[in-house]
Amino acid sequence: MQSENRPVLLAIESSCDDTAAAVMQGGVLLSNITAQQIVHARFGGVIPELASRKHQENILNVVDAALKEGGTRISDLDAIAFTRGPGLLGSLLVGMSYAKGLALSLDIPLIAVDHLQAHVLAHFIEEPRPAFPFLCLTVSGGHTQIIRVDAPLEMTILGKTIDDAAGEAFDKTGKMLGLPYPSGPVIDSLARQGTPKYKFTEPRVAGLDFSFSGLKTSIKYFLRDQMALNPHFIKQEKAHICASVQETIVNILLHKMDSAAHMTGIREIAIAGGVSANSSLRERFETKAREQKWNIYIPKLQYCTDNAAMIAMAAHYKYLAGKFSDLSVTPEVRLQF
Ligand code: KG4
Ligand code: ZN
Repeated sequence: MQSENRPVLLAIESSCDDTAAAVMQGGVLLSNITAQQIVHARFGGVIPELASRKHQENILNVVDAALKEGGTRISDLDAIAFTRGPGLLGSLLVGMSYAKGLALSLDIPLIAVDHLQAHVLAHFIEEPRPAFPFLCLTVSGGHTQIIRVDAPLEMTILGKTIDDAAGEAFDKTGKMLGLPYPSGPVIDSLARQGTPKYKFTEPRVAGLDFSFSGLKTSIKYFLRDQMALNPHFIKQEKAHICASVQETIVNILLHKMDSAAHMTGIREIAIAGGVSANSSLRERFETKAREQKWNIYIPKLQYCTDNAAMIAMAAHYKYLAGKFSDLSVTPEVRLQF
């Protein structure tokens, strides 16, 4: 047992298709291991049944590697954290059951973590850290949210997608263009060779909510009409189509974040989630930050995509606040803090 303010935590993340474990002591990350499941690529998306089976296969090795890299013995652990949701039920169950078994056998507390709260707290793994209050745009394959953060565990969702996530818009566009999954990084690099010469309208959604399904439909009909005129259209125009779609998605994200900053008067702006790797999004946010005098924060990519370090960070704050769960806790597929 370590000192009360420097707990040694093992965190497990298994909400979607990455099996991850991390060890943290007193808020300092000691190890961060992720096993990515490449099995889904050939299906063009995550297959839930396969994901949970792969988590079962990976979890022992991933936890062992995290403990070894952290120089941590299992008897050093003060608590076990796991992702409670949101996520795929079969995937969440693997991480949660493992965490419960370990907590029970070691007779140490269990900490249930909200995956979306953890994405935000990824900003506290390393310096520079945003000052409170700040706004966080979480953009990934499964989430698109604008969150106001007043303290580590005090967060309010100001806006969220009413249908698809931003990463999904990239991935579904990629599918229509015949690109591999996940398509976000491929579209990002193709877009650099093109210009955004095709215009897609931004959806009109009230307040700070987002919508991406209308964009998906307009891309689909645009491609259908163009291919009817020229069967080589996608092949010939791929880079321009990618640049155009990417610009539209980034516009939508940037405009909503701008509105959120104006509405709240907050200029501490954080971005989390896998889509934050997008080069255009980064450039456009950095330009906007200079214009609007925002302080902008984007963690390293390994803390932006799904990872267990962020679960450990959230668990650290929950440990200090005494927020533990008992063994009857269940996964929450649609958990909202
Ligand atoms: O956070 P993440 O790894 O997993 C989820 O929780 O979903 O995010 C994955 C998403 C995918 O949709 C992927 O296409 C997108 O992030 N992505 C990108 C880029 N890199 C990853 N989207 C646009 N540009 C990128 N460079
Ligand atoms: Zn995520």
